[in-house]
Amino acid sequence: MNSISLRELHLAGQRAIVTGANSGIGEGVARGLAEAGVAVAINYVAGDDKARAITDDIRGSGGKAIMVKADVSKEVEVKAMFAHVIDAFGSVDILVNNAGLQQDAAFHEMSLQQWEKVIAVNLTGQFLCAREAVREFMRRGVVPELSRAAGKIVCVSSVHDVIPWAGHANYAASKGGVAMLMKSMAQELAPQRIRINSVSPGAIKTPINTAAWATPEAEAELLKLIPYNRVGVVEDIARATAWLASDHSDYVNGTTLYVDGGMTLYPEFARGG
Ligand code: BGC
Repeated sequence: MNSISLRELHLAGQRAIVTGANSGIGEGVARGLAEAGVAVAINYVAGDDKARAITDDIRGSGGKAIMVKADVSKEVEVKAMFAHVIDAFGSVDILVNNAGLQQDAAFHEMSLQQWEKVIAVNLTGQFLCAREAVREFMRRGVVPELSRAAGKIVCVSSVHDVIPWAGHANYAASKGGVAMLMKSMAQELAPQRIRINSVSPGAIKTPINTAAWATPEAEAELLKLIPYNRVGVVEDIARATAWLASDHSDYVNGTTLYVDGGMTLYPEFARGG
């Protein structure tokens, strides 16, 4: 990633928690924020080795990072995570609500467990982490040397907060929920100078969707849904997230930034309708 341009976002000295930062988009965002000079807490729930490798990498290149294990769907663990990070870094300025998963099933075969797991991590997890972040932002208020806002939250949503997705009703419902959670929080907390936005990725090459792009045939099928004709990479999301966390977007609040190569543009209509 171009470190000079991320440095120009003037995020240096701020402190972030990135949930689900030990793989995929979360890892890319954590590395991007670290490049921008942000002290980053690498949250993970399983896979200590990967979290440790990312933390060591960031430290090795002169950045600040700690790793913190917590299941974002568990209130006690989320509270402990925030207490730990605030103790280590002094405070938190940025939350990237990224942790998420898919448990796909045909609707008539979807178990209650699959439904509840996806809602618990993707939606309740965002609520629990945002609530702790907001409590810290309200306690501390604006620190003008660091940012014009008292705190920033970027919710990592999905194009499936607007595109229905057969075989993934639990996932699409969780992301639709994130969209209204984000907007309601943004409306309520703007007077406290807290900014909350979503970044909604389209198809990004990560472990969550390997089957959709790993073979040339799969990738060709996927590209039919992407007018810009390339599958995204985590750096695409990292740049958008860093911008939303910076004062360059200070007047942007309660909005969703689709980073999807045009997936939300109804690509089939380019060929008919
Ligand atoms: C899903 C991916 C999918 C992409 C576009 C994401 O939110 O997690 O599996 O490739 O949306 O459909």
